Amino acid sequence: MHQKVNAVLKKHKTDIAGKDNDFYIRMLTGASSMHYLFNEIYPDDENMFIKLVELVIKAHRERPDDLLKRDGQKAEKADWFLSNQITGMSLYVDRFAGNIRSLSSRLGYLEKLGVNLLHLMPVFESPQGESDGGYAVSDFRKVDKRFGTLNDLKNFRKLLSERGMYLMVDIVLNHTSHKHQWALKAKAGDKKYQDYFYMFGDRTMPDAYEKTMPEVFPESSPGNFTWVPECDKWAMTVFHKYQWDLNYTNPLAFLEMLDNIFFYANLGVDVLRIDAPAFIWKQPGTICMNLPQVHTLLRLIKQCVLIATPGMALLGEAIVEPHELLKYFGTCLYTAKECDFAYNATQMALQWDMLATGDTRVMLASQHELMQKPLGASWITYTRCHDDIGLGYNDDMIRHAGYDPVQHRKFLKDYFSGKYKGSQATGALFSFNPKTGDARISGSLASLCGLEKALKANDPDLIKLAIKKILLMQAHSFFLGGVPMLFYGDEAGYTNDYSYLNDPGKSYDNRWMHRPVIDWSKNKRTGKKGTVEHEIFSGTQKLISIRKKLDLISDRKNLTWLNTNNHQTAAYIRTAENSRFYGIFNFSGRTAGFSTEILAAYGEIPSTIQNHWTGEKLNLQPYPEKWTIEPYGFYLLGT
Ligand code: GLC
Repeated sequence: MHQKVNAVLKKHKTDIAGKDNDFYIRMLTGASSMHYLFNEIYPDDENMFIKLVELVIKAHRERPDDLLKRDGQKAEKADWFLSNQITGMSLYVDRFAGNIRSLSSRLGYLEKLGVNLLHLMPVFESPQGESDGGYAVSDFRKVDKRFGTLNDLKNFRKLLSERGMYLMVDIVLNHTSHKHQWALKAKAGDKKYQDYFYMFGDRTMPDAYEKTMPEVFPESSPGNFTWVPECDKWAMTVFHKYQWDLNYTNPLAFLEMLDNIFFYANLGVDVLRIDAPAFIWKQPGTICMNLPQVHTLLRLIKQCVLIATPGMALLGEAIVEPHELLKYFGTCLYTAKECDFAYNATQMALQWDMLATGDTRVMLASQHELMQKPLGASWITYTRCHDDIGLGYNDDMIRHAGYDPVQHRKFLKDYFSGKYKGSQATGALFSFNPKTGDARISGSLASLCGLEKALKANDPDLIKLAIKKILLMQAHSFFLGGVPMLFYGDEAGYTNDYSYLNDPGKSYDNRWMHRPVIDWSKNKRTGKKGTVEHEIFSGTQKLISIRKKLDLISDRKNLTWLNTNNHQTAAYIRTAENSRFYGIFNFSGRTAGFSTEILAAYGEIPSTIQNHWTGEKLNLQPYPEKWTIEPYGFYLLGT
């Protein structure tokens, strides 16, 4: 196999002893793994394997000099992406700034906040009205003219690098728009391209799949197949009708998408968000999610990226139950060799669970699984994103906390949709499935924390309370380990935006309620003391700056949950050789007690400690000290 690879390298005039030497070494060390993984999915297809090797060589060849240099710098830092210095934000270019060029002029605002990793929501061409927020891509290499040009994107990336900032974009791996040229050719009857998708002449296979396949958007897009009259076939469409699932049993489809991945890598993308990877392999008789082949494909992608474009980290957007989620970091020989990042969607949802119930037990019951994340890979921690909040954590964990899973989830849905009487939240149910009773939750951070209702009531106490909840949610997730990813607008207290209801291309999808159009006169108030915007912005900014000062917050797998002796508070310790960090959070509307004895149970305690959040020094001696934590209050303590 090495001989074969060497022959391909030679054919392509790779300068193995000179400028391509680093690449050559990576190729030789990674080739067996690449071959093994490829062979698992596409057995005995040596011609295709050679094509894969050629693609990897081409990606290396096309890597611009500045990116080769950047790869070297990142390699020196070893696992650069685990650092406490990185804080991200996801944003829609048009809704945040207009277009890519004007986004440059907003970088100062983001830097002031402390953000240095930008996740641009999909900017590649996507048909208006059938775009799923850009996740229905009709051309993976053409920036949609609404946002600008490919050149604008290249220039923007360079600008980010000059300012020490990182770029994250999506590769929508699972599907294309039905207006992508492959889909257009398939519609026109081209067999080669019909094989890029799952297409069937009658209902036999669709019916077989449907028996076990769940529905992702049961309300707006029920079923998993769509009739295509142009070619008299059914196409698999797991998400919306206009998103056609790619068929990765076909190596040609895989190689084309890998080429697109390399295209993004060579634009200078630092973190590639692989959209919806759980769905990329289908098999009748299964739920067509999280199948073993999904992991093989992701490992293969990781291996190819490691060889050709090693500076790009991979984020797998797998929003799945905890024990499946962990597998996206790789298992066994591939531990920490699959996705470098995954969203900590379980923790995110559990934070909302704690906020609604004032009880931390379900969250704590989930930790034995979440804590198994391997060293060397990391979480994206977040409170909100452009998607809904799913309540897909395990029933067992809910039971462990003493609740009935069905009743518990019903309470959460009622609480966040504002149906529950005592709730301050304004959200809505997303994708309610009448067959199963399942639903997810839409709503902005501020609205779900009660700010929308409080502002409407013009009640200063309720406004204060909502702000406390917002900062508690952010604080708890910022210090957990992993890269915090803010969602644009949350730093300035944006409440739900209902204007999507007037746009037929969006009104069927209430996730648009939490995807605001930024009003820069509102954001300007983030600089004006006494305003709600300033309170939230400056609090968020402070949390980010505390995080950046504390080296031990880097993701070194150094977190232990503490037993606080009550259900209201969650607390963790993060340790390094000579330093300690204690985060203590009261998720309830009642004052909580806290005894320093709890800290002493986890190692020696110093005589005083700094509360980074308030700036005050607290005595830990004489011991034990009894503290109180106000409703929705928190301590960020460091030695
Ligand atoms: C991901 C995206 C979501 C989109 C879906 C289909 O989950 O985050 O917004 O609807 O994939 O592409």
